[in-house]
Amino acid sequence: MDTTMPISATDQAMQLEWNYGAHNYHPIPAVLTRGEGVFVWDVEDKRYFDFLSAYSAVSQGHCHPRIISAMIRQAQRLTLTSRAFYNDKTGLCEKYLCDYFGYDKALLMNSGAEGGETALKLTRKWAYKVKGILQNEAKTVYAAGNFWGRTLAAISSSTDASSTNDFGPLLPGYIIIPYNDLNALEETFKSDPNIAGFMVEPIQGEAGVVVPHEGYLRGVRKLCTKYNVLFIADEVQTGIGRTGKRVACDHEEVKPDVLVLGKALSGGTMPVSAVLTSDEVMLTIKPGEHGSTYGGNPLACVVTMEALQVVEDEKLAENAQAMGEVFRARMTALSHKTDLVKSVRGKGLLNAIVITERPDLGAETAWEICLKLKDNGLLTKPTHGDKIRFAPPLVISEDQMHEACDIIEKTMLAF
Ligand SMILES: Cc1ncc(COP(=O)(O)O)c(C=O)c1O
Repeated sequence: MDTTMPISATDQAMQLEWNYGAHNYHPIPAVLTRGEGVFVWDVEDKRYFDFLSAYSAVSQGHCHPRIISAMIRQAQRLTLTSRAFYNDKTGLCEKYLCDYFGYDKALLMNSGAEGGETALKLTRKWAYKVKGILQNEAKTVYAAGNFWGRTLAAISSSTDASSTNDFGPLLPGYIIIPYNDLNALEETFKSDPNIAGFMVEPIQGEAGVVVPHEGYLRGVRKLCTKYNVLFIADEVQTGIGRTGKRVACDHEEVKPDVLVLGKALSGGTMPVSAVLTSDEVMLTIKPGEHGSTYGGNPLACVVTMEALQVVEDEKLAENAQAMGEVFRARMTALSHKTDLVKSVRGKGLLNAIVITERPDLGAETAWEICLKLKDNGLLTKPTHGDKIRFAPPLVISEDQMHEACDIIEKTMLAF
């Protein structure tokens, strides 16, 4: 008699990844197979609220019908030409991006990390061609706790040891200062005439949704102008309605010199990133000096225009603003019922709860809560140990938000 238990579809999928994939992630054990709007379903057909949205990429909701239709139509027509030739969609998308965000020029890439790297290369070019810094002397400044990807250029600005350990040597020309500290920024600018740019997230996402004080971004704008340093806003996670405005810098009505976008640019369908800036900065790069085979491909361009138009037509930034208030009010009320919730922070639908670690669970507390949230039908993941990020698709309705908050409340109170 065969006594071996049949292996579940969930275990099978997880085992395959373990056996054949690199072990570079530690996922929550849910194996997803389809998605629609704010929901995803696993291979056992259990439904979950998606409160991570692929790290804010699926802002328009899973498989948004308009974005998917645009994608299919273009996929059947022309997907990739490389930039060795022109195509009839890249220019349209570049114009769309420039009009939408108010810049002279756009440069399309793929991942967010490539977007950040493109901003850095543009900054260095501008340093030598316009600012007049001597060759190889340009420096860029970053805030501690930043995250902009996993390439060597990105991790060279990281203050997280797990990102950098055993990956050295890192890139030179980087200066790291504290986040949300205008005095440190001015002292740094004053001390070194070779500084060309300051790259900063308007809200630090991966660091655990760290919101700077009101006036920080205005202060950054002022200091960058005063010291002739490019203000590079990394809005890969905060952009495109996520925080309740088109981009998070709009909360303080400041315009960065260089805007980096990614993730939700394609509504979670394919990797698309873009760097937007002035002619003065963008035109320092000449043919042959930067690019990517897939960057600005016609499929990505069509998808990007549709994904951005959906955000406008469905007023998703406005919904993020309103639903964010509902979420934070519910979580603040919850913090009065359990000391597990130490604090609640965020803007729009980019929020986090800081967890009080339970003595018996220690650093695993937030992880264990996320496992219970999964059992109760809501998916998210801790970031930096004691913080749990809550970032659902921006299409969430008020009823859905309350249902999701009920799950979070029930889970926390049962803990
Ligand atoms: C602010 C920010 N910038 C850049 C990136 C990198 O994007 P990607 O993972 O597409 O390379 C991320 C990813 O989480 C991010 O949060």
